[in-house]
Amino acid sequence: MAKNISYSCSACGAVTTKWSGRCESCGEWNTIHEDKAISSGPKKKTLGGHRGKTINLTDLATEEKEPPRTHAGVGELDRVLGGGLVKASALLVGGDPGIGKSTLLLQAAARFARNGLKVIYISGEESSAQVQMRARRLGLTESPVQLASETNLRDILTTLETEKPDLAIIDSIQTMWADNVESAPGSVSQVRASAHELTNFAKRHGIAVIMVGHVTKEGAIAGPRVVEHMVDTVLYFEGERGHQFRILRAVKNRFGPADEIGVFEMTGKGLAEVKNPSALFLSDRGDPAPGSVVFAGIEGSRPMLCEIQALVAPSPHSQPRRSVVGWDGGRLAMILAVLESRCGVPFAGLDVYLNVAGGLRISEPAADLAIAASLISAREDAALPKDTVIFGEISLSGALRPVAQTENRLKEAEKLGFTSAISSHSHKKHATSGINLRQMTDLAGFVEEVFGAR
Ligand code: TYD
Ligand code: MG
Repeated sequence: MAKNISYSCSACGAVTTKWSGRCESCGEWNTIHEDKAISSGPKKKTLGGHRGKTINLTDLATEEKEPPRTHAGVGELDRVLGGGLVKASALLVGGDPGIGKSTLLLQAAARFARNGLKVIYISGEESSAQVQMRARRLGLTESPVQLASETNLRDILTTLETEKPDLAIIDSIQTMWADNVESAPGSVSQVRASAHELTNFAKRHGIAVIMVGHVTKEGAIAGPRVVEHMVDTVLYFEGERGHQFRILRAVKNRFGPADEIGVFEMTGKGLAEVKNPSALFLSDRGDPAPGSVVFAGIEGSRPMLCEIQALVAPSPHSQPRRSVVGWDGGRLAMILAVLESRCGVPFAGLDVYLNVAGGLRISEPAADLAIAASLISAREDAALPKDTVIFGEISLSGALRPVAQTENRLKEAEKLGFTSAISSHSHKKHATSGINLRQMTDLAGFVEEVFGAR
């Protein structure tokens, strides 16, 4: 029987079925190596498979429907996890270096340990003494978390097998080194092999494994992207370095909704959860300024208000600048094109800067109308009333499309003291009494009504 051997390139991670001296994907020489499996236990026989157990789909009622979960007791974290940590699952927490991943996970480790889980925190970046120092700063020295400083994957698996924890945290996957893979720690093949072994181990032994992965701005090839499809849950920890806000976002979750976010604030004593993010994102708003608009958004399952700022100025360049922070550049180009061709508001010869305040990143199309309002307000140097929120999706024809969860958006706005709202047209009646809602069907009508005829 032919052996199932695969080879991979230690430089770019390409997988092939035959060895060659030069990688066909990246052109590097002598980087193709055979992939071998690693295990802490004795080798398993691969010949003569066992008959797998199957169950009837209709018998599901007899099995547990909801996986058992452990709560961290931190609302922002539990929500992102889909309601708590699931046994025998593998998670990846990615983020820029220095954004606060180690801090978050050390705090989470302490919370889970206090809630009865046996937790091991394995750092490949810091010595145990350094982790202890950090724990002292965070006021976590009372928590029964076991620490280890180790990078050899084989040793780590053996440790986990003897210690039998409920949760193991690996900080970070880029420092792990599988001795059966012939490339340097941090390379694609090492990261992939380590993540694969750890994920398998989690499933086989029923423990939860959280892996930390650094991403670089260029989305480095050895980054956590190669790991995403292996694990059950992928969380990204984001935020602007200069801001104190940090957002933990679920981009994939087999045990809960994706797109859920948790908001934290980085303080001198670690990360604090932010229970009312809207209030925080709007807290430093002064008098209404041209280009500033409040968008009533939905992040995951909860409404969130945030401020959108735009600056439009005559451009000294032959090709005017389009600079965006916190929103999609392509979507901005689309809105500018619709404003120009459907509403007669040209932006040619003008530099456009767009920013979502507080370091938040929005991906909802419902923000289109708020973005358009912000752009026109900046261009016309006309501030919008301070007590108004705006939301609605813009289509290429210039029509305004209805968006989901209008009621929740309005309720959040009312809670924060807003008195009026402008949105795209929807077919449902809304009962939010404290808000004067104006619904519009097309962008040209909106421009005319809000900014006057031009
Ligand atoms: P860290 O968790 O080490 O980041 P990562 O693991 O993602 O690389 O966080 C490092 C940053 O966090 C560092 O710039 C200092 C800051 N920080 C605080 O502001 N307060 C604190 O209590 C801690 C522990 C860190
Ligand atoms: Mg770290």
